[in-house]
Amino acid sequence: MSRAVIVAPGGGFDKVSMGERAAPAPGPSEIMVRLHGCSLNYHDYVVVSGAWGPKEPRIPMADGAGEVVAVGDGVTEFAVGDTVVSTFFPGWLDGAAQVFAFGTVPGDGVDGYAREEVTAAATSFTHAPEGWSAVEAATLPTAAVTAWRALFRDDHVKPGDTVLIQGTGGVSIFALQFAKMAGATVIATSSSDEKLARLKALGADHLINYRQDAEWGRTARRLTDGKGVDHVVEVGGAGTLPQSMTALRVAGHISLIGILSGIAGQIDLMPVLAKQIRIQGVLVGSRAMQQEMIRAIDAHGMRPVIDRIFPLDGLVDAFRHQESNTHFGKICLSF
Ligand SMILES: NC(=O)c1ccc[n+]([C@@H]2O[C@H](COP(=O)([O-])OP(=O)(O)OC[C@H]3O[C@@H](n4cnc5c(N)ncnc54)[C@H](OP(=O)(O)O)[C@@H]3O)[C@@H](O)[C@H]2O)c1
Repeated sequence: MSRAVIVAPGGGFDKVSMGERAAPAPGPSEIMVRLHGCSLNYHDYVVVSGAWGPKEPRIPMADGAGEVVAVGDGVTEFAVGDTVVSTFFPGWLDGAAQVFAFGTVPGDGVDGYAREEVTAAATSFTHAPEGWSAVEAATLPTAAVTAWRALFRDDHVKPGDTVLIQGTGGVSIFALQFAKMAGATVIATSSSDEKLARLKALGADHLINYRQDAEWGRTARRLTDGKGVDHVVEVGGAGTLPQSMTALRVAGHISLIGILSGIAGQIDLMPVLAKQIRIQGVLVGSRAMQQEMIRAIDAHGMRPVIDRIFPLDGLVDAFRHQESNTHFGKICLSF
């Protein structure tokens, strides 16, 4: 038996406790992993906080990473001692999007990785980037794969393009790092001047404080000499989409990823038609996308931006920190 975080049905921070769970010896095509790290995402927050609480007792957290401690018959991809990282959709290995909602997602529809040991299908993990710790690797499955897919699968960002990112959460900072990796110009927004300075240090080319500049879409457009940005990584949702459409160039691409500023609202469809805007809903990505992203990370040598690290039994404190919106990059657990 090893330690696991358990969220009681319905969720809520007062329903989170430490328990024990056994991980059986791996069967054919399975691996046993000694997990050492998780990272927090907004999706985990809504499960644990109770906004979208689980129907049955649930081990939370979609993103986990650790060391392989045993392999089952027929597993050739992994060996004992490998550092591995989980995937968001264990059943979506490759090809076009095919998953509806979150029923198969670890930490939501099935048990997740806030636990010390797990036995699972080998295909629910990939190798971690070379030289990364398990905690670093645990930053990738949700936020980084989403940013990767948005920029390089749904769109084809290339040197000289302009990418607009919103805020300083996990998805946006990975999008900044990947866009710079591809030679793009990045316009970054944040509610905080101090965070904007940190974005500049990470390579952002233009900075806008969206609290001080309500017309930040127009400002972003001006920064492109009136042409408009090629790609928006939309994490704000209903409240920010109109400004994103203002910022965008003709036939530009908006990756609709997050709903931080609201889930519903009035949208003027005229700019969508007149500008021939491509709006693509995004729900993370496949195992193949994660592997492709990790190859790029290995070739480039980038590292994740980690804000703070909490212990396994500090999960609720970690979510309270996320609630404060003072974080910059990923909040992690190490155990
Ligand atoms: N669809 C998918 O596949 C997918 C995958 C991952 C995440 N998401 C979603 O994407 C969103 C961001 O996720 P995350 O994990 O990156 O979150 P996070 O790490 O918690 O990031 C939150 C940050 O977003 C910024 N923000 C908050 N409200 C904003 C607003 N109205 N306009 C612009 N920026 C705002 C803030 O940055 P500043 O403090 O700098 O202003 C805040 O610190 C969430 O809605 C999440 O559910 C979706």
